[in-house]
Amino acid sequence: MQLTDRINRIQISPTAAVIAEADKLKSRGVDVADFGPGEPDFPTPDHIKNAAIKAIEENKSKYTPTGGIMPLREAICAWHKRELGSSYEPKECVVSVGGKHSIFNVMSVLVQKGDEVIIPAPYWVSFPDIVKYAGGTPVFVETRPGDGFSVRASAIEKAITRKTRLLILNSPSNPTGGVVPPDEFERILAVCKKHNVWLMGDECYSHFTYDPHKPYSIASAAGSKEHVIIIGSVSKTFAMTGWRIGYTLGPEALIQALIKLQSQSTSNATSIAQYAALEAMRGTMETVPVMLAEYAKRRKRIVEGLRAIPGVTCEWPGGAFYAFPDISAHLSNGAGRPALAKTCTEISRMLLERVHVAVVPGEAFGAPGYLRLSYATSIERIEEGLRRLERFFARAEAAS
Ligand SMILES: Cc1ncc(COP(=O)(O)O)c(C=O)c1O
Repeated sequence: MQLTDRINRIQISPTAAVIAEADKLKSRGVDVADFGPGEPDFPTPDHIKNAAIKAIEENKSKYTPTGGIMPLREAICAWHKRELGSSYEPKECVVSVGGKHSIFNVMSVLVQKGDEVIIPAPYWVSFPDIVKYAGGTPVFVETRPGDGFSVRASAIEKAITRKTRLLILNSPSNPTGGVVPPDEFERILAVCKKHNVWLMGDECYSHFTYDPHKPYSIASAAGSKEHVIIIGSVSKTFAMTGWRIGYTLGPEALIQALIKLQSQSTSNATSIAQYAALEAMRGTMETVPVMLAEYAKRRKRIVEGLRAIPGVTCEWPGGAFYAFPDISAHLSNGAGRPALAKTCTEISRMLLERVHVAVVPGEAFGAPGYLRLSYATSIERIEEGLRRLERFFARAEAAS
């Protein structure tokens, strides 16, 4: 079939592909230890669900303004101010169909052929493809495990050219859990200002940070507004991935362009979901620390378990809910150990087939040699998965 150049520039999300493979096995009755999905395993809190039920009962099922209902735009600005210290007004906010949609739309209105977009690597799978779809060129800046996978302002400055239009900074990061410390974030903002480059902060995991890190937004920095775009989402913070509500905060002229694009594409985000998100923003936040405490326990178990496997190293993720172990020792002959496979994609396939463990290979994130394991799953499943991983890599050891 003849398809456009645009669509041929991108690939199906590799995380979605892993989830599909694991689901296929599960549907055949196989017990899969599933570390694939990047979504909370908690249900949406009751008060949010009840707000949606009420909205249905009150027939709030019509089109809404394209940029979202005004109470929600107000509530997002108030929430962001309270939680993260910004100062946006509703005219600087647009509600969209999830954070991914927000990012897609921002790229569509700001990036075109010839533009470069800087993306620290390892990166979330969708960033480069969204940039390519918009016609831009992704430029990767490597981060190091020794720095907690946090990018430095000096590395960003080196990557900037006359063509650089925008920097995507996702902190805490999917897949590494890396958190950019506030002082480094401000240095990065200064670099962006100096070179007239947009700084787009993806804050989807803002509230899942572990000691000593705290939720932080670069929008709280003085004088940030003209150069900063904030992407947020209720998906992870409020366990609402399926509701599809995200938002963008930024200069009014940008927000107007985003609303224009939505007016000719998705129109408004689902009306019922907007009322649910309104309750999320206005209501109690007490479920958030409960989830975070549970993630913290799982993080400890999974990182310790992974570190105990020979040939595997793993940093402590500063935030989000992913462990990102380096298994490159198993990809090359060395230390008396023959290579298990050439790539992590092969290892992931072997893990799924042989011990029924689903993980996402590092290649998907621009990080060959790594695996991503989501620990948004119960401690029992983590224990089971770790037992299988130990068995798998021990067999590799025994074969050496
Ligand atoms: C880094 C990052 N940004 C954005 C998103 C988009 O989330 P959503 O579209 O559900 O709001 C995700 C989802 O996995 C993510 O990991």
